[in-house]
Amino acid sequence: MRSLIDILDFTTAELDELIATANDIIENPAKYSEKCKGKKLATLFFEPSTRTRLSFEAAMLELGGSVLGFSEANSSSAAKGESVADTAKTISCYADIIAMRHPKEGAPLVAAQNASIPVINAGDGGHNHPTQTLADLLTINREKGGFNNLTVGFCGDLKFGRTVHSLITALSRYEGINVVLISPDELKLPSYVKKDILEKNNIPYKQTTDLESVIPELDILYMTRVQRERFFNEEDYLRLKDSYVLEPKKLKNAKKDLCIMHPLPRVNEISVAVDDDPRACYFKQVLNGKFIRMALILKLLEEAKR
Ligand code: NCD
Repeated sequence: MRSLIDILDFTTAELDELIATANDIIENPAKYSEKCKGKKLATLFFEPSTRTRLSFEAAMLELGGSVLGFSEANSSSAAKGESVADTAKTISCYADIIAMRHPKEGAPLVAAQNASIPVINAGDGGHNHPTQTLADLLTINREKGGFNNLTVGFCGDLKFGRTVHSLITALSRYEGINVVLISPDELKLPSYVKKDILEKNNIPYKQTTDLESVIPELDILYMTRVQRERFFNEEDYLRLKDSYVLEPKKLKNAKKDLCIMHPLPRVNEISVAVDDDPRACYFKQVLNGKFIRMALILKLLEEAKR
């Protein structure tokens, strides 16, 4: 059974196909409005979410399907001690496809190993978030026309930010990618991502704590929130939370066609004054997230038939 647990589960050709389908959905929504008639998506969210869960639900509804699920662990049998494996087996009796978010790294993989329907990882702890990466890739493709020869800056919480880990992994398969890692020392990219992804694929990268000094080089600036829920103590969070605040004056020397991205939710990392800058792409990312999830649901349900 084909699932999406890690962005590398799909080849670059498959990602291109998903992007093409999403672009076609954007152009011709009516063509897709009954494609999933009679099908059910279960959203199993053991962690908070606004965009990911609701975009999955909106995606399935716009495909003519229906949705069921829960949005917090406490309202599911996990609160009684049920295992992820048993939950996955149970939901396989009710739905055709699962989107699961869980605070434990690897939980969606365990679900996929036990379900008899496709499972989509909608974020597992501080590890991965492949469907945010799909939204990011669609956005980059629409804004930049492709993925090669881009200098991409990642700024903020690169340690716990799962969207960063997945997007770096996805970009490592393209040509001419340069990565600039901007974070406080304590929130640097984990060494497993540096070694297994950047170094293994010979992706040039540099690390800095200073956002303004590198802004002029960037084609894409990917801002992230400091991930409060993954900290061991509140004092560290409070000390680090406002390490970077992107304001209009800091964009003075940025490229005219810089693409400013953020998976959202934002806390303080991007001042609202930046929202009016034509280079701000984060709300486009939100919309793209729905269309690419429609393409993903279609692909996995199609493959499940075979
Ligand atoms: C991200 C996540 O959940 O990792 N949000 C999202 O899905 N768009 C980013 C975050 O929570 O900071």
